[in-house]
Amino acid sequence: MRIILVGYGVVGKGVTTILSRRYVEKTRDVGFNPKIVAIADIDGAVINPRGLSPEKLEAIKQRGFPISADPDFGRPGISALDVIESVEAEVVVEVTPVNIQNAEPAMSHITKAFKTGKHVVTTNKGPLALAMPALTELAEFNNVYFRFSGTVGGGTPMLEFAKRCLAGDKILSIRGILNGTTNYILTEMSKNHVSFQDALVNAQKLGYAEREPSMDIDGFDAACKVVILANWIMNKKITLKDVDRTGIRDVSLQMLEEAAKRNSTLKLIGSIEGDRATVKPTEIPLTNPLCVSGVLNAVTFQTEFAGEQTLIGKGAGGIETASAVLRDLLDIRRKLATKLLN
Ligand SMILES: NC(=O)c1ccc[n+]([C@@H]2O[C@H](COP(=O)([O-])OP(=O)(O)OC[C@H]3O[C@@H](n4cnc5c(N)ncnc54)[C@H](OP(=O)(O)O)[C@@H]3O)[C@@H](O)[C@H]2O)c1
Repeated sequence: MRIILVGYGVVGKGVTTILSRRYVEKTRDVGFNPKIVAIADIDGAVINPRGLSPEKLEAIKQRGFPISADPDFGRPGISALDVIESVEAEVVVEVTPVNIQNAEPAMSHITKAFKTGKHVVTTNKGPLALAMPALTELAEFNNVYFRFSGTVGGGTPMLEFAKRCLAGDKILSIRGILNGTTNYILTEMSKNHVSFQDALVNAQKLGYAEREPSMDIDGFDAACKVVILANWIMNKKITLKDVDRTGIRDVSLQMLEEAAKRNSTLKLIGSIEGDRATVKPTEIPLTNPLCVSGVLNAVTFQTEFAGEQTLIGKGAGGIETASAVLRDLLDIRRKLATKLLN
């Protein structure tokens, strides 16, 4: 399987690391034979149809140069779009920064990949949040696979769990803590009695929150994940504008203290129930399995037959999220193999 990697940041590097670490095992187990033939970032690309060496690229980066400075295979200035169009490959792995205004540059990368007959794996929520129904249709129209399991739960297989493990059941509703940053802030406030501002500053110092934290604290990140869950698991056709969203800016220490008197706490809960998709601070009992601390994520699927099923795990991290990319690549590999057999 020839792969074009677009974006070589935290997740992109995780992808090259995990592919080289798990390569031998997976080749033996399922005949998976990945080869990264191009990596594009904002400065240009490196391209080698025989496969690239991540160690060499890492050394170039560590010396402070862009990967396109590689003397053998570097192509300074070439755009990711040109790479996707011109390099022969089966799959594009798209891991550029999220943008919920217009979803670029990921939207153009993904649609270009579809139109040139390439399957896509992405961890970027932007295009899905703004245009998931249209993108899944476009993938089908072009007869390619589109996978995005790293967009919800990082490495924790929340989408797969619901789609595959609960396939025989009917999912009636979904509720979850889908954003680790806000969960860290609310946990700090309730357990250590620090103000919202102080908890936010701590989260920024620890690298859990961006300097511009609105995406997390105003609930946009959780709302993007609600959109993905609603479309992929519950067959809704919604986008970000359909989610009724409230962040955690107005959660006070007093509100948390009042909740504690009722053996409860406040969590930023994303939910899909009937036709309603919401993100809002919600009081939940301390005994509820969803009530996880720190940066953990948790999601509960309420099903018709098997009752409530809750999945808990880390919601982010470069290597964790890269493991979701590998999971998606293996899924595509299995699907392609089945197609060949039929
Ligand atoms: N990190 C996580 O734990 C995590 C978890 C789940 C999902 N995600 C999602 O995964 C995606 C990648 O996250 P990340 O943490 O790896 O981000 P990152 O560290 O900021 O890396 C982004 C990469 O994309 C490159 N890039 C920016 N604009 C580009 C363009 N126009 N064309 C080609 N490459 C471009 C950047 O190049 P420069 O460095 O040169 O700017 C960088 O290499 C994001 O959408 C994020 O929301 C991340």
